[in-house]
Amino acid sequence: MQRAVIVLPTYNEAENVAVLLPRIFARQEEIPSHELHVLVVDDSSPDGTADVVRAMMADNPNIHLISGRKKGLGEAYKRGFRHALDTLDPDLILEMDADLQHDPAMLPVFIDLARHGFSLVIGSRFALGGSTPNFSLRRRAISLLGNWMLRFMGGLPPIRDCTSGFRCIKADLIRKCDLSFLSTKGYSFQSSLLFELIRNQARVIEVPIVFPDRISGKSKLSFADQSEFLLNIFKIRFRKSEEFLTFSAVGASGVVVNLGIYTLLTRSVGAPLEIASPVAIELSIIWNFLLNNVLTFRKRASEASFRTRFIRFHVVAGIAGVVNYAILLLLARGLGLWDIGSNLVGIGFGVLVNYFLNSRWTWRESCIPSCGDRAGQLPPQSS
Ligand code: GDD
Ligand code: MN
Repeated sequence: MQRAVIVLPTYNEAENVAVLLPRIFARQEEIPSHELHVLVVDDSSPDGTADVVRAMMADNPNIHLISGRKKGLGEAYKRGFRHALDTLDPDLILEMDADLQHDPAMLPVFIDLARHGFSLVIGSRFALGGSTPNFSLRRRAISLLGNWMLRFMGGLPPIRDCTSGFRCIKADLIRKCDLSFLSTKGYSFQSSLLFELIRNQARVIEVPIVFPDRISGKSKLSFADQSEFLLNIFKIRFRKSEEFLTFSAVGASGVVVNLGIYTLLTRSVGAPLEIASPVAIELSIIWNFLLNNVLTFRKRASEASFRTRFIRFHVVAGIAGVVNYAILLLLARGLGLWDIGSNLVGIGFGVLVNYFLNSRWTWRESCIPSCGDRAGQLPPQSS
């Protein structure tokens, strides 16, 4: 049987965790495919949460505990994920709050969807059928605004609940993620993790959940968390465009190389333009290729060999060159516009074509079969 490890961060949840753990394991019989494990990540809670957990570990070998210093929710999750991946051999990793705001009844639903190919299942408060019955107007506004900003400013796809803390993730998908990039310490970890999962081709589905109020203990969401959240949106945005910006910078350096070699050959070596230009073009293409390899796409696990990429890069350069030329002809000859301006527009489109094809084809990543799926929605539950 495969394992599903629920990573449960706790800070002062002694009372809640005592109720929650039995409720989680009560769901085991509805989940024949996976053996449930719970990894409690406690940050030395002064209320003795860890002692409560230790007492329960005595008669349940599927409860695990790691303790650390309090550095925020995100840090706790990162530690928990790493520990789970290294020592518990999970097929699925789940995120869940320990304060009873997340209903263990959803566990079988999540795991079933994961078994049917969804590598990221999100318990969603804002999907059709989900709700936050006790949220104050203020908290609701903050949450909705945050989600809206993530989507429109951070460029996340249309997922309704980007900050949910109730999720089921394929362990293989987490393994592909660069957790060190997720430098967010607090609650905004949730959105940067989501972004990173999607960047790694997560196949996403949102499942509506009800998110009631806490009964005991209190929320640890702080003002610092909210500021970090805002800052994080810009980080995500930048990370998203990082590749394209690097690609453009490499392209610009290629223009300099092209011009420099052309000038050198025609002026100092005395080569004719007919020879100098193709040599300069080819050398600048090679220059661009090498730089893109070590800079722009360095983090990609490309499916193609170096040689194949080299050939594809040339094919793409050819296509982009034709596009550039066609647009120049169309605008300058066809519409009679200024030739240099027309050429600039052509070059601009050439760069886009170049980037698009190189990022989708030349440096295409070898990835899980679920590549390219879009976020889905389940119909509201009828219970
Ligand atoms: N180990 C550890 N360290 N656990 C923490 C820390 C920490 O610094 N801070 C919070 N936790 C634990 C809590 O004990 C609880 O089990 C869980 O993380 C969620 O914390 P809450 O403080 O109850 O969060 P919330 O209810 O305000 O926020 C919920 O909604 C957010 C988005 O609106 C959570 O689901 C968040 O994950 C979510 O981002
Ligand atoms: Mn809570």
